[in-house]
Amino acid sequence: MGETNLSQFGITFKGSGSYIPKQILTNEDLSRIVDTSDKWIKTRTGISKRRISSIHESVCQMGYEAALRAMEMANWSPDTIDLILLATSTPNDLFGSAPRIQSKLGAKNATAFDLTAACSGFLFSLITGAQYLQNGSFKRALIIGADQLSSYVNWLDRGSCILFGDGAGALAIEASDDINNFYGFQMKTDGERGGFLNLSVCGSEEEIIDDIKVNKGKFSNITMNGQEVYKFAVREVPIVIDNLLKQLNYNSSEVDWLLLHQANQRILDAVGERLNIPKEKVLSNLNNYGNTSAGTIPLMLDESIRNKKVKQNDLIATSGFGAGLSWGAALFRWG
Ligand code: COA
Repeated sequence: MGETNLSQFGITFKGSGSYIPKQILTNEDLSRIVDTSDKWIKTRTGISKRRISSIHESVCQMGYEAALRAMEMANWSPDTIDLILLATSTPNDLFGSAPRIQSKLGAKNATAFDLTAACSGFLFSLITGAQYLQNGSFKRALIIGADQLSSYVNWLDRGSCILFGDGAGALAIEASDDINNFYGFQMKTDGERGGFLNLSVCGSEEEIIDDIKVNKGKFSNITMNGQEVYKFAVREVPIVIDNLLKQLNYNSSEVDWLLLHQANQRILDAVGERLNIPKEKVLSNLNNYGNTSAGTIPLMLDESIRNKKVKQNDLIATSGFGAGLSWGAALFRWG
């Protein structure tokens, strides 16, 4: 549970950016790979198509493009950035991909590192970045969410391959002496239910010498119990948002936009209904991109800012949720 009223500095939101890969995979295309149909996918998920990154559109490349656009909107020069957080579960390099983005941006004074929390990764990174700004350690941060789950999807599993796509988004946030637009947050994880959604190492034993065996690293495809994940999301997400609003003395009627991790339109609709937030206020671009994991929240927000749907000072309740299991919420004003 977080409270911002004890902190030294406020947070302001200065810029957003996103990047979507060029290749488009439609439901029709999928129906040629597995036994499914456009109608089934649209009805059960709200998704019509998704983007698939090419070999040239890695997490680093997508994250860089998104961060560059956020930096440009914020009107920051690269050397003024203090912190770069990259939320991803599909890094170019397991030792960390954020420093590569730092170098491409020319942000030579920044500290950059990765944070992994699957589809909650962007929310958890935003909250983490906010701590450094609030306590006065850093002034300017780029928070990036980027994933290319397409590399780990089992394209023969119709229960999961229909959901995922690739993409990236980023926000530029800044510490302020007199304004605070980041009101508070909640974060939760439950490893007991972690087996519902995984991208796990499937090690194989390899002898290196004299019976000494190593567990050779390799990742298996994504495995998912769709029904359990669905039940988890529609139960926990409204609760965590409701608890946050109560903690901060806000009512759901005051929320201008509900910005949920884009997993399934039915999840978005159910959460909106439980919180009594009308459909027009529930942001959705699932139809075009599917679930881009850590990318969904900043990608959705960037699109809404650039097409002038979300305006300066709008109150936004956001929630990320997914593997771990992990979930959480934050309340902020844009600007
Ligand atoms: N096309 C056609 N039929 C499909 C299908 C597909 N792509 N996928 C599953 N089916 C079939 C099933 O085999 C099942 O058939 P049966 O009744 O003959 O056994 C039937 O459709 C119903 O399956 P079910 O799993 O109950 O469907 P569902 O309504 O739960 O929808 C998901 C499946 C995956 C769309 C849904 O569970 C979901 O979105 N869950 C959340 C997943 C998620 O968001 N993960 C990421 C979280 S960050």
